[in-house]
Amino acid sequence: MLHETNVIIASMKNIVILISGGGSNMAAIAKAAQDNNWKQQLNAQIAAVISNKADAGGLLLAKEQGIPTSYIDHTQYPTREAFEAALIAHIDAYEPALIVLAGFMRVLTPAFVGHYAGRLINIHPSLLPAFQGLHTHQRALDAGCRFAGATVHRVSEALDDGEILAQAVVPILPDDTAQTLAARVLTQEHLIYPKVIASLLAHKVK
Ligand code: GRF
Repeated sequence: MLHETNVIIASMKNIVILISGGGSNMAAIAKAAQDNNWKQQLNAQIAAVISNKADAGGLLLAKEQGIPTSYIDHTQYPTREAFEAALIAHIDAYEPALIVLAGFMRVLTPAFVGHYAGRLINIHPSLLPAFQGLHTHQRALDAGCRFAGATVHRVSEALDDGEILAQAVVPILPDDTAQTLAARVLTQEHLIYPKVIASLLAHKVK
């Protein structure tokens, strides 16, 4: 006798993470995915880590976790649009539910942002809307701020703009340098980014 079982298997929600450097946020997300069993709990997995730099330290960290990695060298493309076209083709092969920018140091065109509307998030090392752009920690010190922090936000066409999804605040201490402050902020980045991603996967993105 043939027994048929009707099992509905929801397709896995793929996360694609884009990096350019050390990848500590990516590693924190990968650890959270492992520790909290996102595969079972959220039906989600980190499908790929993609860098625009071949020597990004994060690529090695991802490989150690068994995550597929690749790089697309932006300097090999004549225009920003040509680079993004290659990047989009690569990302879309994973049909991602979420594209996570984690220290991805390329300015993105409106076309790229529009292509991933609702699925593209970033982390920025300041309390947005303060200190958009680069050198956030030194600028916070120079401005005499007493607090600094990090922001997870949706990516919109304007740089470091878009809906704020989470923030973490740290004190600025009297002897802080940009380096010590960055390290303090980074510990909080590693907490809030995985939380936001889990929440989006559980509630909002497809
Ligand atoms: C982090 O400070 C993040 O907020 C910013 O770039 C840095 C990336 O660090 N966007 P890492 O590569 O995740 O260690």
